[in-house]
Amino acid sequence: MLAWSEAARARGERIAFVPTMGFLHAGHVRLLEEARRQGQRLALSVFVNPTQFGPGEDLARYPRDLDGDLDKAAATGADVAFVPDVASMYGPHAQTFVEARQLQKGLCGGSRPGHFAGVATVVCKLFNIVRPHVAVFGEKDFQQLAVLRRMVADLNMPVEILGVPTVREPDGLALSSRNSYLSPAERQRAAALHAGLSAAHARHAAGETNAAALIAAASAVIAPRVDRIDYLELRDSETLAPLSNVDRPAVMLAAIFLGTTRLIDNQRLGC
Ligand code: PAF
Repeated sequence: MLAWSEAARARGERIAFVPTMGFLHAGHVRLLEEARRQGQRLALSVFVNPTQFGPGEDLARYPRDLDGDLDKAAATGADVAFVPDVASMYGPHAQTFVEARQLQKGLCGGSRPGHFAGVATVVCKLFNIVRPHVAVFGEKDFQQLAVLRRMVADLNMPVEILGVPTVREPDGLALSSRNSYLSPAERQRAAALHAGLSAAHARHAAGETNAAALIAAASAVIAPRVDRIDYLELRDSETLAPLSNVDRPAVMLAAIFLGTTRLIDNQRLGC
């Protein structure tokens, strides 16, 4: 992979990169299409990264379809797919991790301790191996995007980070590989997540700026339809600091459970 990248760089080509955990859906295809526009060479990685899963999470059953992934990647014009195995990414003595100490706290980091250290570390490693000029990520994983932007700035990594808006089903459900876990009944109820965040957006557009009121508006739609709200919070969209009032660009972020499936989504407010 490194030899391919160095050869492309030596030819003066700009490398665009989409890191993934595979089981590609239309959201990933959108990332690949955007990345295709960003450089002369398009690389993707497919690696289900064990260090970003906690004990008892879905690492063992995470959906996989490498043949389908490679077909979809080829159809979007990807030039190379990097598909390492776990042993080649993490040697037996690996002990170095990258952490965004503040941004990794709370939200998904609160529910999934160690998750963002796993994400930042593997993305750092992938950047060192793929050596992209630009890397493209989905905005559905809003906290992940913030952590990765921080990592690149703090560690002087010469990689541009590009966020791409979430791709949704017709009923608003954000595309996610984990949607494949949902039963038909859970799938129907899952639409409440985006509907609730949209209700908060509408309340804000109508003039409401109080965080508690906006969260209540979202919760009134989400809570009756899901099995559990993991978190539902309003944060500064740049720093992810908690907000009690929307007096600057903000984002409402949520994670919910339907059965054992955990889904996340977010909605920007005030920008
Ligand atoms: O968003 C994902 O699919 C993963 O967190 C990533 C960025 C590929 C790192 O494993």
